[in-house]
This record gives sequence, C-alpha cells and structure tokens, in this order.
Amino acid sequence: MNTILIDTQQNNDTVWLAEAAGILRSGGLVAFPTETVYGLGGNALDPEAAKKIYAAKGRPSDNPLILHIADMEALSGIAKEIPPMAEKLADAFWPGPMTMVFEKRPEVPDATTGGLPTAAVRMPAHPTALALIRAAGLPIAAPSANLSGRPSPTTAAHVWEDLHDRIPMILDGGPCGIGLESTVVDVTGEVPVILRPGYVTREMIAEVCGACAVDPAVEHPTEGMRPKAPGMKYRHYAPKAPLTLVEGEAKAAAEKIASLAAEAAGKGLRVGILGTEETAALYRELLPEAVKDRIRVQVIGSRKDPSSVARNLFAALRAFDETGEEELFGETFPTDHLGFAVMNRLEKAAGHKKIQA
Ligand code: TXA
Ligand code: MG
Repeated sequence: MNTILIDTQQNNDTVWLAEAAGILRSGGLVAFPTETVYGLGGNALDPEAAKKIYAAKGRPSDNPLILHIADMEALSGIAKEIPPMAEKLADAFWPGPMTMVFEKRPEVPDATTGGLPTAAVRMPAHPTALALIRAAGLPIAAPSANLSGRPSPTTAAHVWEDLHDRIPMILDGGPCGIGLESTVVDVTGEVPVILRPGYVTREMIAEVCGACAVDPAVEHPTEGMRPKAPGMKYRHYAPKAPLTLVEGEAKAAAEKIASLAAEAAGKGLRVGILGTEETAALYRELLPEAVKDRIRVQVIGSRKDPSSVARNLFAALRAFDETGEEELFGETFPTDHLGFAVMNRLEKAAGHKKIQA
C-alpha cells in the first residue's frame, strides 16, 4: 500500500482534511499528530478498523485502544456514566494529555477495548487531531503510531519508519510538544487511580480530586503484579541494544557511567550514553581519549526542566538504534512530578536493569 505523507503546517486544511476524514469513515487508518505522541487512528465504533490497527502495529489484540474525542457530547456516547471526579478532571485537563477509563456503553465494540467492559477516552489538545476527529464525526481509536515494542513516535519521520506501506496516510504536524504518552486514569472507583503515568502528574490530579492512587503494579513494577492497563505489561520502548540505568546523585552517576562506558568501549563495543545538560561536560572530561570515538553521549535535556527530558526521550532511544550503539548507559531522575512518568518509560526501556553509582 502506498502511504501518502502530508505536511499539515505547509498545506491548508482543504488539501487533506476531507480526504483523511473520508479514509476514517470508510474504515481505513490515518496517522496523526497529538500533543503527546503520534497516534494511529481508525473508527473506534468499527471492529474491522480496530483489527486493522492491531495488524498494522503488530500489537496483541488484548491491549485496548484509547478513544479520542473532540467534545464532551461524544463522551456520553461512550461512557455508561460520567462520575463527578471525571467531570472535575475533564474541566482541569481536557483537552490535554490525560485519558480516563470509564464503564463502556454497548455501542463501543469489544474489538476496540480488547474485550474489557471499560473504555479509555481522551480529548487531545492538538489542532490537527481535533480537526480530524470533528471532520470524521466519529470517536477515533488511536494507539501510539509505532510498531509494537518500539518507542512511541514523536515525529512523522518516526511514524514513516515504522508504518509506511502499512497505512494509507500520515499527517505530519511537526514534532510533538510533550513527547510522552498521556496519563491513563481509572475513574470507575472511589478515587482516581493512575494506570499509566504521563504528563499530568499524580500531584496535579490529587490537587483537583483531593486524592490520587497509583496502580501498585506500576508503582512497584518488579514484583510481578498484573497491571490494570494491559499495555503496561509489555516490554516497551526498548532500544535494540541493552540499556543499564545508573542510580544516584547526578555527578556520581556520571562518573560511574563514564567508567562503565570506557570499559565497554575498551572491549571494542560502540557505546551510547543518555546524558543531560548538567553532566555533558563531565563526560567530555572523564572519558579517556583512546576510546572517545566509540562513545556517543546523547544529551536528552536539562535536569532543571524535566519536560525537556520527556520531550526528547523517545527520539533519543530511536536514535541509538539508528547509529547502532551496542551497549547503552543512562542517568536516572527523581520520581516526583513528571519524573515519575519519565522513569516509568526509562525503566521499561532498560527492562528494569538498574545499578547504584
Ligand atoms: O498519549 C496517548 O495516550 C497516545 C496518543 C496517540 O493519544 N496514545 C497511546 O495509546 O499511548 P496506546 O494504545 O499506545 O496506549 C494506551 C494505553 C495502554 O497501556 C492500554 O493498555 C491502556 O492505555 N488502556 C486502554 N484502554 C484501557 C482500559 N479500558 N482499561 C485499562 N487500560 C486501558
Ligand atoms: Mg503505545
């Protein structure tokens, strides 16, 4: 299948919107930008479209899809009931990087929800995504537009890499501003429960609702519990080379990473380091000249601005696959606020391989 790539910033809506909406209405798939990551969209009410999404991504069909909407009216067609806490969260964070899990209405097919009696819903804050949902006149099921297991795409080029020739259309709206997927929150119980950490933090949710819990399987991922969001059980976001995280204060961690990297490079391996603006100069100083040409330090952002780390993380993990490093080491971040989501993705990418500085 030939894939059409359209730059929505260079082309007027009239060039692409009706065609993209037509593809969705006739059961086809369109990849589109959101503020978090790129999504692979299909008609959420059509089981055949859901099957196409799973096939294009190579994703297990027990992993449910998020339904994207453009207004609150659409929510009433999906959720059996909208609890007061959901109203509050929608007021505070929609449109935006937060997904809520509701008891679903029977109109939502099992194929979209992976057979679950609940449906995850999000109103994205991206003009292209909102225009597309409105023009299609449907809720749009959209997982991240990557091949299953790869880091989520934060540019149209990432989507192209993974899905060209598998889907008819990719809309390029430039790089995603947030770069991490939405926070998934279960609103069917007494208090909101985070099933997947994201840009909207537990601190932010607790401020709106008075309390916020976290799925224990997400909080303590190594203890073999079953996460409530099926997608959280898969090894995800993984670069091809093994990644080891080094815990500890930034300077001590950088020193340890420099010595591990020098050792691996000394054995002839090509090594990648996930570093930060604060430690970049340290690596330049610490890495021995003799092996420097085999070590690439990728700066993902500033420790003072966790949103910069979030924005660049997935692109950095993909870049290591491109440049072909064989052994990777990375710094860690405090797990409060946005650091919780950043560390959740990093630990998955590392398969939970962590050592102390
Ligand atoms: O930011 C995002 O959420 C992006 C953009 C495109 O909106 N979408 C995204 O979708 O990350 P996906 O399919 O890659 O991840 C959806 C996550 C998975 O972990 C899935 O298991 C969980 O949400 N999920 C979906 N429906 C659920 C449900 N009914 N109950 C529990 N978890 C659910
Ligand atoms: Mg995904």
